[in-house]
Amino acid sequence: MDFYKANEKRYDDMIYRRCGRSGIRLPAISLGLWHNFGSVDVFNHFIQIAHTAFDNGITHFDLANNYGPVYGSAEENFGRILKKGLGHYRDELIISSKAGYDMWQGPYGNWGSRKYLMASLDQSLKRMGLEYVDIFYSHRPDPRTPIEETMGALVDIVRQGKALYVGISNYDDVQARAALAVLKEHKVKCLIHQPKYSMFERWVEPKLLPLLEEEGVGVIAFSPLAQGLLTNRYLQGIPEDSRAAKSTGFLQLNQVTEEVIAKVRRLNEVAIGREQTLAEMALAWLLKDDRVTSVLIGASSVAQLEDNLKALKNLSFSEEELNTIEGILA
Ligand SMILES: NC(=O)c1ccc[n+]([C@@H]2O[C@H](COP(=O)([O-])OP(=O)(O)OC[C@H]3O[C@@H](n4cnc5c(N)ncnc54)[C@H](OP(=O)(O)O)[C@@H]3O)[C@@H](O)[C@H]2O)c1
Repeated sequence: MDFYKANEKRYDDMIYRRCGRSGIRLPAISLGLWHNFGSVDVFNHFIQIAHTAFDNGITHFDLANNYGPVYGSAEENFGRILKKGLGHYRDELIISSKAGYDMWQGPYGNWGSRKYLMASLDQSLKRMGLEYVDIFYSHRPDPRTPIEETMGALVDIVRQGKALYVGISNYDDVQARAALAVLKEHKVKCLIHQPKYSMFERWVEPKLLPLLEEEGVGVIAFSPLAQGLLTNRYLQGIPEDSRAAKSTGFLQLNQVTEEVIAKVRRLNEVAIGREQTLAEMALAWLLKDDRVTSVLIGASSVAQLEDNLKALKNLSFSEEELNTIEGILA
């Protein structure tokens, strides 16, 4: 493949939204490398997905230490993509990584200790060939490590210049409040929270979103398509190349139930009425809320990514559409 040169019109159509009360604006759609970029996937295929993303103004790429499989391979592959030209645009990119889930053997390769977070970020930087990441996250709260230790590590990572900003992921409102308080004491801003949020997963709505708004923390919703359930992927059964069918996929076959698909069919009818695909509507439904800075999608093909980008053409909903959707989701 020739050295990559980005589309000159890449900033024409993307919408950028301010991340909480910060200086950073993120694209309304960001690309995650949890699946589809590992050592089990095909390089010439996923590099096209990454290039299509940036060519359309997706400036934010989200990784974690253990994305793959195998663990670490998504970061290695992203490092290769950067070397093949995307890295030329480093100052136009927001690259994130995380640590918090199992990564290596023994007592120091998981959860939230200073030892783990510091070592893991050093490994991530090496795999991606970067001097710093833009955002480093505590990937999940650790009930056995004092929050002062986990957040203290994030503070020092910023002071060392290895991350420009920090974030938290999978923290509920009580855990988030405690984490934000420690960061505030150290005068390090929590830029962003990364929770699971979609039409099918709405735990953030009652308490977490109001807290983050009050604190000026941005929100990036992960698995906004419920790993593909909120698309047309499973309307005619389970395709062989789908996440649910793959042994390496996190979507389990037993999650694709008749009851879920019945709801998906009804949602799909609403989407058709809006002249959108269901994937487009599911993303638009999240982005109708200003508190959601960005939706963090996955894509196994360029066509899926291009479909998802079209969501930005219609982010508004009539009262009637919203009520119909609520009725289906109830
Ligand atoms: N912080 C955390 O704990 C955490 C956890 C999970 C994810 N994340 C982040 O969130 C990112 C996204 O997660 P996700 O991959 O679960 O997101 P998702 O967008 O909910 O699901 C992506 C999958 O949906 C299907 N899909 C996407 N667009 C489609 C379209 N237009 N039409 C039909 N099918 C479509 C594809 O499935 P097929 O592969 O079947 O084609 C794709 O792999 C991750 O990469 C990661 O960065 C974070």
